[in-house]
Amino acid sequence: MSLKDKIDLKKLPNHIAIIMDGNGRWAERQGKNRIFGHKNGVKSVRETTEAAAELGINFLTLYAFSTENWNRPKFEIDALMRLLVQTIDKETKTLNKNNIRLQAIGDLKSLHKNSYKQLMKAIKDTEKNDRMTLVLALSYSSRWEIVKAVKTIIEQIKSNKISIDDIDQKVFSSFLTTSSIPDPELLIRTSGEYRISNFLLWQIAYSELYFTPKLWPDFRKEDLYEAILNFQNRERRFGMISEQIKKA
Ligand code: FPP
Repeated sequence: MSLKDKIDLKKLPNHIAIIMDGNGRWAERQGKNRIFGHKNGVKSVRETTEAAAELGINFLTLYAFSTENWNRPKFEIDALMRLLVQTIDKETKTLNKNNIRLQAIGDLKSLHKNSYKQLMKAIKDTEKNDRMTLVLALSYSSRWEIVKAVKTIIEQIKSNKISIDDIDQKVFSSFLTTSSIPDPELLIRTSGEYRISNFLLWQIAYSELYFTPKLWPDFRKEDLYEAILNFQNRERRFGMISEQIKKA
């Protein structure tokens, strides 16, 4: 029985988020520059997206560029931006063919002009697709997002659009860039690092975390299946006790 066949399709995570890590180390281990790693990381993006859509996952979020990544050397930032434009340009057709919608979260206006334009075009061109939503986190960080939400809420209170009593967890969530996206049930990080690195801090309150030593450019469909199987063998209690979950 293959790994894929072992997956219970009735118990799939609705939303999988991935911290794609290890491109640089993957390249350096082969004596190549870091950009080579990012280029090969695109293959993993393609494979993972395909595997998730084939299985019937509804949302897949990929951490492609963090707010902190702006501190990398200029040549690496430029290369990542170029790669983003090229990839989006090349893959929009495939996304449409496979009925996949593209969305993005983050400080998108801070992206290089060309990348931003290309991204917006792809989001528009795929907006009617409804098989799976692929969310790219670009120039994203959780703390940036939370501070931004707080500022907007304060402005709305000041202009009497909402009152303090209206604010609860649901309302707060609606001010985050992920307002139209359900919380991830499974968060995967590659490359053997056990960190969340400012990614979806609010949204992963009850997510199952899965860490794999695989470097991102080596991540293949089978690795996604393994993570999902691991998820399916866990008991999610949401603060309750085992017996309560079994009765539900
Ligand atoms: C982390 O590896 C990876 C990134 C910061 C960028 C991820 C980008 C891609 C996979 C390519 C473009 C993506 C899309 C969606 C078009 P790292 O550089 O931090 O690796 P290291 O930890 O080994 O240095």
